[in-house]
Amino acid sequence: MTTLTSPGVTPRLTDRYGRAITDLRVSVTDRCNYKCIYCRTGNDGAQYAELPSEDYLRIVRVFVGLGIEKVRITGGEPLLRKDLPRLVREFAKLRTPQGEALDLALTTNGHLLEEMAPVLKDAGLGRVTVSMDAVDPEIFARITRVPGSFHKVLAGIRSAHRAGLGPVKVNCVLLRGFNDDQIVPFAKFARDEGVIVRFIEFMPLEEDRLWTPEVVVPLHELVERLSAFRPLVPLAANAPSETARRYTFDDGVGEIGIIAPVSQAFCGHCSRVRLTSDGKVRTCLFSQFDHDLYGRMLRGATDEEMAAYIRSTIEKKEARHHIGEPDFLKPSRSMVHIGG
Ligand code: 5AD
Repeated sequence: MTTLTSPGVTPRLTDRYGRAITDLRVSVTDRCNYKCIYCRTGNDGAQYAELPSEDYLRIVRVFVGLGIEKVRITGGEPLLRKDLPRLVREFAKLRTPQGEALDLALTTNGHLLEEMAPVLKDAGLGRVTVSMDAVDPEIFARITRVPGSFHKVLAGIRSAHRAGLGPVKVNCVLLRGFNDDQIVPFAKFARDEGVIVRFIEFMPLEEDRLWTPEVVVPLHELVERLSAFRPLVPLAANAPSETARRYTFDDGVGEIGIIAPVSQAFCGHCSRVRLTSDGKVRTCLFSQFDHDLYGRMLRGATDEEMAAYIRSTIEKKEARHHIGEPDFLKPSRSMVHIGG
């Protein structure tokens, strides 16, 4: 790569396996108004941690200076932060070293999205992904453990669509015995609503011990079950690091993504790094520890020192996860405290 040696050009953020790290997920809170069974326990009272928005902004600015091109705001539930529109507005002003705007996205449970979608669009947000694990209101409430949640989320999805925060993606984590009867209804939902429905294999990231290999609905089974509804047609990947395999149906109506981190791990193409809501860098969902970037910032690190520290953490990025192997260890944090 000639650019690496050209004077004045910052080398891209690359790990020791040669993966370019271009995608940052920033958790802006680990509070959540849902208690989804595959993520949290049913108990309240957990500690939570979040930083002032100026601090996220400074950290993200340093990351963008290092070659991050895509920023996804996540949580916890990011819409619980009252100052989120301001934060989005500031992120939207950031430019890559090449002078490009960021690909700015948000993952939300959708509960507060109906009202917020136009506000976030106006602030400069590009697109949203909504987590929704059933299209049957009763099953949905059983998963989220919040009554009446389905209609709020549906209204949120439609509002995002109307506001132009598209393509709207809807993420469904499949759990055998809980919501795997929703596969075909979700396919119809994708076709009717014009949203991209993405099925995600359940990963062992939950607070409760629910995960077993049997609860996972693997890609090949999902493909079979969808094909029985209507023949599936594969679509080309948008990018090599794309997590979802894309499909449409034989009539071209509806887009389905299948994200198969368990049965078809995609670690070899991973382009991601995460910032937790308490300012730690995580180089893998399944890391056994995190890197205290915020601690260094509080102790007076300059932007250059923060950048050097980020580089050193990225160099140590894990090769891959070990789900389903005898040496698998649960990560040091559950999903709600990491950030999707
Ligand atoms: N396994 C797979 N996906 C999960 N998500 C949350 N927890 C898990 C898990 N244990 C999904 C959420 C969200 C996305 C960021 O991650 O549904 O849409």
